[in-house]
Amino acid sequence: MRNAFVTGGDRGIGRAIVEMLVAMGHRVVFTYHRNEKAAVRTLKEIGPGKAECYKLDLRDYTRIRYLLLRLKRKGMVFDVVVNNAGILGRFRTIPTITRRDWDEVIAVNLSGPFYLMKWLLPLIRKGGCIINISSIAGKMGGTVGVHYAASKAGLIGFTFALARELAGSGIRVNAIAPGPVDTGLLTPQQKRRLSRLALLKRVARPEEIAHAVRFLIENEYITGEVIDINAGRYMD
Ligand SMILES: NC(=O)c1ccc[n+]([C@@H]2O[C@H](COP(=O)([O-])OP(=O)(O)OC[C@H]3O[C@@H](n4cnc5c(N)ncnc54)[C@H](OP(=O)(O)O)[C@@H]3O)[C@@H](O)[C@H]2O)c1
Repeated sequence: MRNAFVTGGDRGIGRAIVEMLVAMGHRVVFTYHRNEKAAVRTLKEIGPGKAECYKLDLRDYTRIRYLLLRLKRKGMVFDVVVNNAGILGRFRTIPTITRRDWDEVIAVNLSGPFYLMKWLLPLIRKGGCIINISSIAGKMGGTVGVHYAASKAGLIGFTFALARELAGSGIRVNAIAPGPVDTGLLTPQQKRRLSRLALLKRVARPEEIAHAVRFLIENEYITGEVIDINAGRYMD
């Protein structure tokens, strides 16, 4: 059986990715941060024996290492890893972004995937793939603030460098840069405002991002690539 690891799989885009991976026949290990209710609900709705979940704060290097040692002791190896979990941070301009705001967004969105890959890499099977969920903000700045945009642009650079580093081991590394998606990350007002900017006049459904994850898993000739899913935002 193929195994997959997804961060932030309890809700939003991560949950859609978990469901899609289960539908593809993977057994999924996913993490959540604080929302145990959502994690339990996801496990229940997916059905018994198809997934397991662990509480994990991506800012906590020691815990990440501990979880990965636990999975290693269980003999787990992974075919797919999706670095999905992320936070938006508060909408702010440079003069009002505190050092704490900056550190937190960078810690979860950029240092977290690095910490995770450091310990997870030896558990990824040859021929496996890693998919990083970046954002349109990482390519064109977005509307949140420099902290979020820098974290997501950093994840794209991380993707390119890791794709080069792992090509010889037969592991592919790609990123997805979604525009606005219908999850709890955005308020209803933000979704309405951002819908107007898309050619298709709506935000994406989480399943539409999961679909790109599937594409990147199945197409074995793609590495070091960023897939944009934003309903024509670059055509403005
Ligand atoms: N929604 C969008 O419009 C959009 C657009 C472009 C890119 N993205 C990116 O897509 C990814 C998923 O976003 P989403 O919209 O699905 O967000 P979401 O619904 O807010 O879910 C965020 C996920 O990240 C987890 N998380 C938050 N802080 C964490 C931490 N410190 N350590 C570990 N996990 C943590 C959450 O766990 P809990 O549930 O336990 O809190 C949750 O599972 C993010 O990287 C986001 O930046 C989203």
